[in-house]
Amino acid sequence: MRSSWFTAALLCLPSALAASFECSKPFINNLLADTAEALIVETITENGQFGQGLADAAYPNNATKLPALCAIHVRAQSSPLSNFTFGLFMPDNWNGRLWTVGNGGYGGGVNWVDMGAAAQYGSAALSSDTGHNASSGDLSWAFGEDQNASAERVTDWAHRAIHQSIVISKELINKAYQDPVKYSYFSSCSTGGRQAMMGAQMYPEDFDGVVVGAPSYWMSHAVSWVNKNVVKNLPPNATHFIPSTLFPMIGKEVMRQCDAQDGVKDGIISDPFACNFRTEALLCGATPEYSNTTNCLNEAQLGTLRNIWQDYYEGEEFVFPSLSLGAEDQWVPMYYPRFLDSSTSNTSSIYGLVSPVLLKLAEQVTTSFEIDATKFDLSAFHERGGKMFHYHGLADGDFSPRSSIFFHDQVKKAMNVQSTDDWYRLFMIPGMQHCFDSTIDAPWYIAGGSQAWRLWEPGVRSVPGFEDPEHDATLAMIRWVEENKPIDKIVATAFKNGTWDVVRQRPICPWPTRAVFMGGDVNASDSWECSGQYRDGPTIVS
Ligand SMILES: *[C@@H]1O[C@H](CO)[C@@H](O)[C@H](O)[C@H]1NC(C)=O
Ligand SMILES: *[C@@H]1O[C@H](CO)[C@@H](O)[C@H](O)[C@H]1NC(C)=O
Ligand SMILES: *[C@@H]1O[C@H](CO)[C@@H](O)[C@H](O)[C@H]1NC(C)=O
Ligand SMILES: *[C@@H]1O[C@H](CO)[C@@H](O)[C@H](O)[C@H]1NC(C)=O
Ligand SMILES: *[C@@H]1O[C@H](CO)[C@@H](O)[C@H](O)[C@H]1NC(C)=O
Ligand SMILES: *[C@@H]1O[C@H](CO)[C@@H](O)[C@H](O)[C@H]1NC(C)=O
Ligand SMILES: *[C@@H]1O[C@H](CO)[C@@H](O)[C@H](O)[C@H]1NC(C)=O
Ligand SMILES: *[C@@H]1O[C@H](CO)[C@@H](O)[C@H](O)[C@H]1NC(C)=O
Ligand SMILES: *[C@@H]1O[C@H](CO)[C@@H](O)[C@H](O)[C@H]1NC(C)=O
Repeated sequence: MRSSWFTAALLCLPSALAASFECSKPFINNLLADTAEALIVETITENGQFGQGLADAAYPNNATKLPALCAIHVRAQSSPLSNFTFGLFMPDNWNGRLWTVGNGGYGGGVNWVDMGAAAQYGSAALSSDTGHNASSGDLSWAFGEDQNASAERVTDWAHRAIHQSIVISKELINKAYQDPVKYSYFSSCSTGGRQAMMGAQMYPEDFDGVVVGAPSYWMSHAVSWVNKNVVKNLPPNATHFIPSTLFPMIGKEVMRQCDAQDGVKDGIISDPFACNFRTEALLCGATPEYSNTTNCLNEAQLGTLRNIWQDYYEGEEFVFPSLSLGAEDQWVPMYYPRFLDSSTSNTSSIYGLVSPVLLKLAEQVTTSFEIDATKFDLSAFHERGGKMFHYHGLADGDFSPRSSIFFHDQVKKAMNVQSTDDWYRLFMIPGMQHCFDSTIDAPWYIAGGSQAWRLWEPGVRSVPGFEDPEHDATLAMIRWVEENKPIDKIVATAFKNGTWDVVRQRPICPWPTRAVFMGGDVNASDSWECSGQYRDGPTIVS
């Protein structure tokens, strides 16, 4: 199975060379401009590790099993009131590529772990702390006493710090190796996906290829959509309120009705958009299965349920698409208890504002700081040869997978083209939650942004046993950019936890096509072909 392509990818660029520079603070500082300063410069030997532990609030874990490299941590000034830091791994045997990784949520920190995964391919690996030090759910840095400094920090987080990290790193690499970066890539998920879209829109010269996972590109509308759902469900003592304890029951009924509707009863909802879901099945007393009053829904609760699966419009304005059927296992973090403390019935957070008011407020904030990546005309990125590989899990309970379909559509509209297939493709991954994981053993692993560290073993390189561009998004992206071979499909893998035994593999197809079972072993990827079409439209519920 082990392909020689992986080795080829490591070596195929003529610039692959041994580090010719001195991995020391004085040497690196001498190459940096006055506005930047190296804080750490450390030689890492083959199979070594690096990290900052708890000093890095967002990414305390070490990158492990590293190739021999020079680990660098730099602070740079982004405005008179703000600064950011970035981490850079510069391998001894460098392949000429720069691979930047992104961040998650509102977190601030150098993502050493994802950098480690990128460095395993022989690339120089970069991550910015985005201008603050905080864990992913911590937003306090945006509300500091000095409002001017806070505003600068938001700008750094929104787009500036990563861009400046890339500009400084490209120059540093060029000076250190005495050879420029041949190809620049980015790969990340969620906020990292937003960062990828932001780069393609605002700084098209930053990247030749971007791997974009489940991007939270439309923050203003996404938070408004959450608010709409939470408000609709409240208060907790209302007849229409659905407690989180009933979510698993709802998920099971969705699986029961939708699994077979995609043509194969295999425990995976392959096409949630085509499932016709009857909420009445869950009505208390409708069937013997739902006759236990603590394990069924009343008429009012069915109304709440239908609302969750409805696209959000504010008057005529389309605000945000609904989640897809099959994402119920991830509803808990979305609706409960992050936005509602059921024990105190505390609803006095910002969630709970009247919906149209919050929407306008959110739009104002995101517009003034350029947080939303909604400048859909990607002509500049496309014209300089940029390639985009965009994916989204169909069981994502944080950001609707249809928000990615919306993005893809908007790009075509903004650029006035029928297809973007020669440079931008979107892939939907059945059964995958937000960025990674599947509660139903659906194949999701494609070595995408932040995926490697979700496996049980630290320091995983590529897709173990399948280190080739058919299975690995990183290698697929490199081949698309450097050999102009578009990604026709990518085979996702589900491993048996704790082993490298394969549970199932399945091709993931470019939107709007989907994998169809052709017969044979349902868990083998070659039993499936990208010959079907997804239904494109709102969730069908009655
Ligand atoms: C992380 O790596 C550093 C070396 O960079 C080492 O000193 C430290 O002990 C490691 N931490 C853990 C938890 O292994
Ligand atoms: C980053 O934040 C963590 C958690 O608040 C803190 O322990 C750590 O000291 C901070 N790191 C730096 C470099 O200030
Ligand atoms: C960098 O910014 C932080 C606040 O985000 C501040 O505490 C620190 O003093 C600044 N450091 C420098 C060298 O400007
Ligand atoms: C913040 O910026 C405004 C406008 O530039 C300025 O008038 C004000 O003095 C600044 N406040 C502080 C605390 O620096
Ligand atoms: C629900 O709780 C609120 C206060 O938390 C109370 O005012 C209201 O009467 C309660 N409604 C019902 C139907 O119990
Ligand atoms: C009703 O369902 C709950 C939760 O599933 C269970 O604990 C309880 O025993 C059931 N009651 C009856 C009468 O079946
Ligand atoms: C309710 O939530 C708000 C905002 O999170 C918090 O400030 C307040 O202390 C909470 N109140 C109670 C009674 O828990
Ligand atoms: C996988 O196995 C590890 C131990 O090897 C365990 O800690 C982890 O919880 C398991 N994950 C799942 C999803 O079962
Ligand atoms: C396919 O994989 C699933 C999940 O492990 C398993 O339950 C099922 O039995 C497998 N089917 C076949 C035909 O091997």
